[in-house]
Amino acid sequence: MKYINNKLKIENVSVQAIANKFGTPAYCYSHNQLKNNIHNFKKNFSTFSPLICFAIKSNTNINIIREIKKFGLGADVVSIGELMLALKAGINPKKIVFSGVGKTSNEISYAIDKKILLINAESKSEIIEINRIAKLKKKKVEIGIRLNPNTDAKTLSQISTGKEENKFGVDSKLFLDLVNYCKNSNNIKLKCLSVHIGSQILNHKPYEKMLGIISKIIKKTNIEFEFIDLGGGMGIPYNKDQTKLNYKKYNLAIKRFLKSHKSKIIFEPGRSIIGNTGILVSKITYIKETKKKNFIILDAAMNDLMRPALYGAYHKTLPSIKNNKKSKKTLEFVGPICESTDKFITLKKFQKLNEKEIIVICDVGAYGMSLSSNYNLRTKPIELLVKGSKIKIIKKRQKHKELL
Ligand code: LLP
Repeated sequence: MKYINNKLKIENVSVQAIANKFGTPAYCYSHNQLKNNIHNFKKNFSTFSPLICFAIKSNTNINIIREIKKFGLGADVVSIGELMLALKAGINPKKIVFSGVGKTSNEISYAIDKKILLINAESKSEIIEINRIAKLKKKKVEIGIRLNPNTDAKTLSQISTGKEENKFGVDSKLFLDLVNYCKNSNNIKLKCLSVHIGSQILNHKPYEKMLGIISKIIKKTNIEFEFIDLGGGMGIPYNKDQTKLNYKKYNLAIKRFLKSHKSKIIFEPGRSIIGNTGILVSKITYIKETKKKNFIILDAAMNDLMRPALYGAYHKTLPSIKNNKKSKKTLEFVGPICESTDKFITLKKFQKLNEKEIIVICDVGAYGMSLSSNYNLRTKPIELLVKGSKIKIIKKRQKHKELL
């Protein structure tokens, strides 16, 4: 994304042209950015060529997943729906891992039938259920057990998953008991230790700590795991003050770990692959002037992009055309939904805006569209993929007919 002659462009296409042609609100992704992200991710860890399973929950557009598949990635799924989607997108079942604390019998059964790489179990009850279903099917099912390493990921509390108060995984003691349970089962083969300590992690230290804890527990189990699934969570800088995760240091820590453990590493990245590829293009419906600030009322709302309302998340917001005139007032960018949290951002400094102008909300490729809803019976936005000068509709705008 860059300004050329004051016009914001995504690859070779101006955002204004996209809005004119396809309407607003519109999610728009850059293929080139996606390609670069995957290339960089692979490069960062190239010495041990991990299996990279894209976290489908971060973006569930089948055409995006098809593109990601072309780069050789697998999938991390957390529901039967995501598993069906990954398979429909053509992802090899032997590159699919299934996470989640509450997999139903139906979901477990489906995953076994589809012969996916691993079901990463998160409790004793789940392992007993996998064993029961596998026995009925007369199969030996390959699983992982998710460890809760009680590590603070130093991220937002709402997206932290690796501390003992979080519902995810099992503690070290139970982990060791479950390893023994699996050893004694004819229908379960334990192949993996998995972890995922949280999302939007920008500091490598929690990862280092997590690796130390895993290392200790593996020694206690006395077995070599074929796979170590380190989850995802690699953060991206949403604002200027945030620094990128130090991949070099994370990579070094894993390399040190691999000196004493001969396992294949699995990653489950979502945000770091797709986050900065997407923008939300929106039109100003009205400007409401008040004493303290002006409300910029957009045609996009919290149902289209939940992150600011849900986590107080910051998303860089830009005009599609720069005019170099300063706004005298503070601007609050809001949606039309009947909730006070339907607010994207408040900015003291911004350019002067007019009704009908186009505004761009950045870095919404991850957990943007996938968290969207039909609240207030609003239809979901169109999704577009830009490649050079070409624009492809990868999901049509939802019609009211589908909702009524
Ligand atoms: N693996 C597991 C087991 C997960 O639970 C998650 C994310 C991921 C991988 C991918 O994490 P990533 O690399 O994208 O950080 N809605 C929140 C994020 C929730 C993340 C949930 N789990 C947000 O918008 O920030």
